[in-house]
Amino acid sequence: MAQSTAKRETFSGRRAFIIAAIGSAVGLGNIWRFPYTTYENGGGAFIIPYLIALLTAGIPLLFLDYAIGHRHRGGAPLSYRRFSPHFETFGWWQVMVNVIIGIYYAVVLGWAASYTYFSFNTAWGDKPIDFFIGEFLKMGDITQGVSFEFVGMITGPLIAVWLVALGVLALGIQKGIAKSSGILMPILVVMFIILVVSALFLPGAAKGLDALFTPDWSKLSSPSVWIAAYGQIFFSLSICFGIMITYASYLKKDSDLTGSGLVVGFANSSFELLAGIGVFAALGFMATAAGQEVSEVAKGGIGLAFFAFPTIINEAPFGQVLGVLFFGSLTFAALTSFISVIEVIISAVQDKLRMRRVKATFVVGIPMMFVSVLLFGTTTGLPMLDVLDKFVNYFGIVAVAFVSLIAIVANEKLGILGDHLNETSSFKVGFFWRLCIVLTTGILAFMLFSEGAKVFSEGYEGYPSWFVNTFGWGMSVALLVVSFLLSRLKWKDEELAVKKGE
Ligand code: ALA
Repeated sequence: MAQSTAKRETFSGRRAFIIAAIGSAVGLGNIWRFPYTTYENGGGAFIIPYLIALLTAGIPLLFLDYAIGHRHRGGAPLSYRRFSPHFETFGWWQVMVNVIIGIYYAVVLGWAASYTYFSFNTAWGDKPIDFFIGEFLKMGDITQGVSFEFVGMITGPLIAVWLVALGVLALGIQKGIAKSSGILMPILVVMFIILVVSALFLPGAAKGLDALFTPDWSKLSSPSVWIAAYGQIFFSLSICFGIMITYASYLKKDSDLTGSGLVVGFANSSFELLAGIGVFAALGFMATAAGQEVSEVAKGGIGLAFFAFPTIINEAPFGQVLGVLFFGSLTFAALTSFISVIEVIISAVQDKLRMRRVKATFVVGIPMMFVSVLLFGTTTGLPMLDVLDKFVNYFGIVAVAFVSLIAIVANEKLGILGDHLNETSSFKVGFFWRLCIVLTTGILAFMLFSEGAKVFSEGYEGYPSWFVNTFGWGMSVALLVVSFLLSRLKWKDEELAVKKGE
């Protein structure tokens, strides 16, 4: 056995782990997804499904991920494999989900970094949409055929963010991941609080907050609102796709798992709420300045960050400062999440091939960087990103969560994980925790089949069906097949693959 790699790296302590885990959780999901999801799904009333999803699915599954990773002390495939030899495919499936998320997350991160720089002189000019689509992305019309021309303005920053992330990852768990989160997260929190407080002083901010928080109780009877709440929690908390399994595997043996989980879960939701307030205060200002309703300017995702915010920055007093704060926050939040996504893959490769960290980082990172540049540094980047995001981020995560939970519950393994949590943790889990996991499995089935049937019959966002079939359904099936094949590959160290961990 390769002695030098036999001992698993660890976080220096609980604090380092919690900051890294919050760094992973707080990302694009919090800043550009939560505010609009809340607004679209009942405003103030959405808090009910959101809190129910957080307390009955988010936190219980976060504990479950921690238990799997901490008990078996491996990346996702190794942890599942040590749990049961039949479970290894789940781990690889999670790894593959991260491969896809990683290659497009880097792109948005690169855009955010570019826009931080553009904020200094509002380089997007008077028409931010035209600038983003036409000059920045040089996007083609997908219905007129696909073109893969390179766009220099995107490619440079994209390569740069990859190199920064890989540099951090090559340094390892404590010196790289924990240290970078320890520096970036406090800066992010300070920048973001200044941004939110400034936004609250903009004229029209109250109008935005009214729009965000006015409850539409009738929405609570719609299943899609509940699906949105669960979907938000899964992605935002980084659960069920290997990240928290991997991070927990680097925790020292006697760590308080559930206590840490509660801190991470509530910190993530608090940040989300803060983002909702800041974003909608700014949108209220934008609507007031244009003499429009908030409903006419409210957006999420790319539209919010790259169309609405540049407009707000153009019009607001000290707009450039707000721009640097907003895009800087987006960049830092996305960077720490991106690092956690890539770590899942590196850790899996290290385990399976007994590879040293630096080598594994570049074996994983360099090919992914090329794929990222080839797919997204081109004129077809945006539609591709949209389809991959929907299929991996939604279907991929929900599907792997569903089948792995079925396997764990059906094989009566929940009790083992609960006992493990209770051995080391301050907050004990019991019947209610197990009940939540079982109920969530049912909800995941509903989410998967109802949304799957909808996209299957109606297509997605009007993209040509060949495009959705290839990059959506085709890619999803390919991920599963590749995951299965990877689980069949021989472990470099067979003994390591079965022992409980050290
Ligand atoms: N949890 C990360 C986010 O919210 C992936 O973006």
